[in-house]
Amino acid sequence: MDRILSLSDAFVLNNGVRIPAVGFGTWQSPNGEVTYNAVIEALRSGYRHIDTATAYGNEESVGDAILDFMKESGVKREELFITTKLHNKDHGYENAKSAIENSLSLLKLDYVDLYLIHWPNPIKYRENWKEADQESWKAMEEAYREGKLRAIGLSNFWPHHVDAILEMCTIRPMVNQIKFCPGINQKIVADYSREKGMLLEAYSPLGTGGVLNNDVIISIAKKHGATPAQVAIRYSLDSGYLPLPKSVTPSRIKENGEVFGFSLGSDDIEAIAALENLDITPARNPDEITF
Ligand code: A2P
Repeated sequence: MDRILSLSDAFVLNNGVRIPAVGFGTWQSPNGEVTYNAVIEALRSGYRHIDTATAYGNEESVGDAILDFMKESGVKREELFITTKLHNKDHGYENAKSAIENSLSLLKLDYVDLYLIHWPNPIKYRENWKEADQESWKAMEEAYREGKLRAIGLSNFWPHHVDAILEMCTIRPMVNQIKFCPGINQKIVADYSREKGMLLEAYSPLGTGGVLNNDVIISIAKKHGATPAQVAIRYSLDSGYLPLPKSVTPSRIKENGEVFGFSLGSDDIEAIAALENLDITPARNPDEITF
């Protein structure tokens, strides 16, 4: 990895595509003005990587903000990195093909930089999840070859789901996006994903806000002259994850992007990794989700 010193510095995926090292998360941002304002604010603050999903229902507003930002700033499409994800109801070859077109149309883009299977085993496909994932993957490979997706990957995949893709793919997944924050350590999934060449992305890197009142995190923040949110974001980066912090509040959006003036020591990382009983929802078992 190159040194990461700004929001436009990047990790490099296994197909050579650069991915800006902090992404702006939009989960739980409703379609409309709130998401539009948050995304344009993030882009104005220097974020170059936006993470959305069909399931978030906000691709249209994300697309509006991207277009308007490019117009006002002169920043080119190639300088931005946009991710979206296959909805749980859209697995399978034909469905995934249409879902990709639909996302491109809502986002008003000719291509997205990264497209992920959002969950490997949604309730609708529980009886045939493996075949469903494999068929979706085929459609994603096709769209990748057509230049509609610059990178393709997975989200919430555990090792047995990853294996189902690896046994049939002709293009290997580039990313696994999983929940990671102080108090959640999916080590088996993370080690396996890295071993198979995937970059790990951390969603909910602030534990949806739940880690920010923790005394250990507050004291580490004080030591570094940083805020608890900045420490949580550094915890992702310094653990080798690409963090995707979400906020709809301009001051926090800015704060969360200013994480390059310090890094955590191994003592900090160990202290954070040892935290238990934080006010967070644990990572869900993808084989037991009910959506
Ligand atoms: P809001 O969007 O109202 O600003 P995560 O990225 O882990 O999902 O966390 C997102 C949650 O954390 C949201 O509720 C968001 O609130 C809140 N949040 C984001 N950044 C900060 C920050 N710098 N300080 C405090 N809370 C924050």
